[in-house]
Amino acid sequence: MLESITATRYVTPLKEGGSLPGIVEADDLGTYVLKFRGAGQGLKVLVAEVLVGELARGLRLDVPRMAVVDLQAPIAKYEADEEVQDLLTASLGSNLGIDFLPGSFGYDGSRPPDPDTAADILWLDAFTANVDRTWSNPNLLVWHGKPWLIDHGAALYFHHSWPGKGPNPQRFAAQPFDASTHVLRDVASDPAAAHERLAPKITRELLTTVTDAVPDEWLEPAPGLDGPEASRAAYREHFLARLETPQIWLPGGAR
Ligand SMILES: Nc1ncnc2c1ncn2[C@@H]1O[C@H](COP(=O)(O)OP(=O)(O)O)[C@@H](O)[C@H]1O
Ligand SMILES: [Mg+2]
Repeated sequence: MLESITATRYVTPLKEGGSLPGIVEADDLGTYVLKFRGAGQGLKVLVAEVLVGELARGLRLDVPRMAVVDLQAPIAKYEADEEVQDLLTASLGSNLGIDFLPGSFGYDGSRPPDPDTAADILWLDAFTANVDRTWSNPNLLVWHGKPWLIDHGAALYFHHSWPGKGPNPQRFAAQPFDASTHVLRDVASDPAAAHERLAPKITRELLTTVTDAVPDEWLEPAPGLDGPEASRAAYREHFLARLETPQIWLPGGAR
């Protein structure tokens, strides 16, 4: 489970982010990048952030700590910027906080990860269909000399079709991954070796931990999904089905 905290101050928007995330302070005295429930694509983006972020953590990749941040009306009410006020007002309740990494900078290739770590990150992105780690949008922050993974909201986009069609793990398992524009493609070691390292770590136990980290209220009902537990089980089935088909999605194919 993610820790639950309450926002105490809205500090500033992060203008470079497409989804207008903002920086907030919280009652644990921490500073967080807030991903708003009321932003563009809604709760599914927050769900993907938690699932892929916690999966990465389970694979021992570096990901900032996440927390569920309650946003209350007074913070929205006293915000001067109208666009931000609208976003805050649309986001009262639980939002996703990502621990702010002070002094970090966007990945520019000057501090590449070691080849196996790069391959592990590439593997994670291929496995979760994360198209958002390219040179134009690296979504890696260099902090304390090593890359930290951020911004997984675009991964697992199969769930955007759930409101109409319901879950379909086999379709996800059959979906290829295009690694040609991946930011770590040229520094990563053999993806097949990364698969051998990481696939055994995607256990039912890890998947349960990861799906349990998503708050109930972010898991919206859909055809065939009548409650949060059904949604969690569906995500686990998608991951398990995809784990069986590396020949389809693993860059360079499986051994
Ligand atoms: N945990 C963090 N610590 C410091 N800066 C961050 C953090 N998370 C995001 N940022 C900054 O905010 C920008 C936008 O965040 P990101 O998660 O990529 O959102 P978006 O979906 O809008 O692209 C990032 O490119 C980065 O510069
Ligand atoms: Mg981003």
